[in-house]
Amino acid sequence: MLKNTLEEYGWLAKVLHWVVGLAMIGIVIAGLIMTDMDQTNPVRGQIYMIHKSVGVTILALVLVRFLWRLANPVPALPGDMPAWQSLLAHLNIYLLYALMFSMALSGFLMSYSSYGVPFFGLVTFKGEGISPDLGKFFHTVHVLLPYVLYASFTAHIVGALYHHFVRKDNILKRMV
Ligand code: HEM
Ligand code: HEM
Repeated sequence: MLKNTLEEYGWLAKVLHWVVGLAMIGIVIAGLIMTDMDQTNPVRGQIYMIHKSVGVTILALVLVRFLWRLANPVPALPGDMPAWQSLLAHLNIYLLYALMFSMALSGFLMSYSSYGVPFFGLVTFKGEGISPDLGKFFHTVHVLLPYVLYASFTAHIVGALYHHFVRKDNILKRMV
């Protein structure tokens, strides 16, 4: 079914979860590779272009995803889970949404008034309005937040595997 129920995620939430989740993992790997590359490497510019274009796509999809979450029931966690675990799992979900949004937005804002933001060779978003100092601030945000993201990713994925392999409940199954 399209919409979530209190027991299971609907197909749209599932598709958005895996498309955005895999894009997030890919964009982090691309970000780490491209910033480590020699300036003279001919594919460096291509990877920057793909990183920025995928980042803009993530920004749009995260907004859709969050609105879809608000418009749907959220499947409940098992009632026999310790309260602190349910609380941490929920807080981490909100943290993941906040990180996806702020990583994409800080990337966009740091590039907008400098090199610009190409979108798969179709258009380039570029203009005045972000001073070099503000650009530097968004750059700092963009290179520091990934450390929080790694911790949050790890907790999320370890949590999902713990549910599946140790508790053997349906948490992972209802997202696939
Ligand atoms: C959607 C989520 C995004 C994630 C998770 C992400 C992640 C990263 C990471 C991990 C790096 C490497 C940081 C470092 O250690 O130096 C990076 C660099 C960079 N990102 Fe993103 N990024 C995202 C979106 C964007 C967007 C939308 C743009 C621009 C439109 C962008 C532009 C850049 C640029 C220009 C750099 C290189 C910064 C430098 O040269 O120091 N990113 N990103
Ligand atoms: C690759 C391994 C991953 C696995 C195995 C996984 C597994 C899951 C599972 C089982 C749920 C459902 C939790 C529940 O029922 O309460 C979930 C939800 C969620 N996941 Fe992942 N996930 C992965 C990657 C990611 C990544 C990379 C992100 C984003 C950065 C992400 C963001 C989210 C969010 C925001 C939710 C909440 C969905 C909602 O209710 O709106 N996941 N994940």
